[in-house]
Amino acid sequence: MKVSVIGAGNVGATCADVIAHKELANEVVLLDIKENFAEGKALDMWQTAPINMYDSRITGSTNDYAKTAGSEVVVITSGLPRKPGMTRDDLIATNAGIVKTVTENVIKHSPNAIIIVVSNPLDVMTYCAYLNAKLPSNKVFGMAGILDTARYKAFLATELNVSPKDIQAVLMGGHGDTMVPLPRYTTVGGIPVTELIAKDRLDAIIDRTKKGGGEIVNLLGTSAWYAPGAAAAQMVEAIVRDQKRVFPVCAWLNGEYGMKDIYMGVPVILGKNGIEKIIELKLNEDEMQLCNESAKAVKEVMAVLDNMKATA
Ligand code: NAI
Ligand code: 2OP
Repeated sequence: MKVSVIGAGNVGATCADVIAHKELANEVVLLDIKENFAEGKALDMWQTAPINMYDSRITGSTNDYAKTAGSEVVVITSGLPRKPGMTRDDLIATNAGIVKTVTENVIKHSPNAIIIVVSNPLDVMTYCAYLNAKLPSNKVFGMAGILDTARYKAFLATELNVSPKDIQAVLMGGHGDTMVPLPRYTTVGGIPVTELIAKDRLDAIIDRTKKGGGEIVNLLGTSAWYAPGAAAAQMVEAIVRDQKRVFPVCAWLNGEYGMKDIYMGVPVILGKNGIEKIIELKLNEDEMQLCNESAKAVKEVMAVLDNMKATA
C-alpha cells in the first residue's frame, strides 16, 4: 500500500507524519516542488520511526512523480496558505494552476488513485482536481468537514468541560464562513447538545467555528496545520482500512439535497472505494436555507474557476 502526499509544507508534512505514525501505508511518499524540501522532511520523519516504533517507510521527492507511481491514495496539499487579511478565495488563481498541474502528474503515474484535496479555496480546488483527474467523483473529494467539525467539537468540549470523544456532530456546506454546523444533529454522549447549553452560548460557538480558520491565521500569521493534517490522515485511514466511517466530506453532488454540479460538504460513508454513499439528512427549512446560501457562495467561486478556464 502506497500513499503519496503532494506538498511538504505545514499541512502535507503533518499529514504524512500521521499516516506513517499510524502505519496506514507501508510506503509514504512526500513530494514538493521546492528542491530537497520533501527529502529533508521525510528523512527527519523516518528518523522518528525507531522512537515512535513504526515501520512505514517514508521518502521524499523533489517533483519526481515517478516516485509516487502506483499510489492508492494521494493527498494534495500543494498551494499557498492563507495570510492575514486574505480570504480563502483570494488564493484561487495561484492554487488552481498548482492543483491542475499536480493532478495531471498524479494521474499520469497513479491512474487508479483516490484523490483527497486539501488546498484552498477547498471546494473549488476539489472541483479543479476533479476536472483534471477525469476520474469518477467518488474518487475525488476534499477535506474540510472533518476539520470544521473538529473545531466545533473542541469548542463544545471546552465549554461543557467534557471529553471531545463524546461529542458527535454533523456540519455541512462549503469550507468558508457560510459553513453550516447542525446543532439538531449534535449530541454529547447521546444527549442533544441543545439540552446542555444555552442558545446564546451555542450560537457563539457556531459563529466561532465558522471563523475557526481565520482565528488561527490571526494568531499564527499563517493557516492551521496540526488539525488539517490529522483530518486528511483520518480520511486516508477510512479508505485504506475500508472503515466505512461517516464523515462530512466535500463531495460532488448530483441531485442530492436538490443540488447539482457542485462540490460541497455533506455527510458521506468513506471506505475503500472512496465515497461509498452520500447520506441525505432530513433538513428543516432553516437548515436547508443555510445550505442553499452556502452553495450559492461556493457556486460563485466555482464560476471564477470556470471563467478562468474559458479565458485561459
Ligand atoms: P505551506 O506553504 O506550508 O505548504 C505548501 C507547500 O506546497 C509548499 O511547501 C510549496 O513548496 C508546495 N508547492 C507549491 N506549489 C507546488 C507544486 N506545483 N507542486 C508541489 N508542491 C508545491 O502551506 P500549508 O499550510 O501546508 O497549506 C497548504 C494548503 O492547504 C493551502 O492552500 C492552505 O490554504 C490549505 N489548507 C486547507 C485546509 C482545509 O481545511 N482544507 C486547512 C489548512 C490549510
Ligand atoms: C483552515 O480552515 C485556512 O482553510 C484553512 O484552517
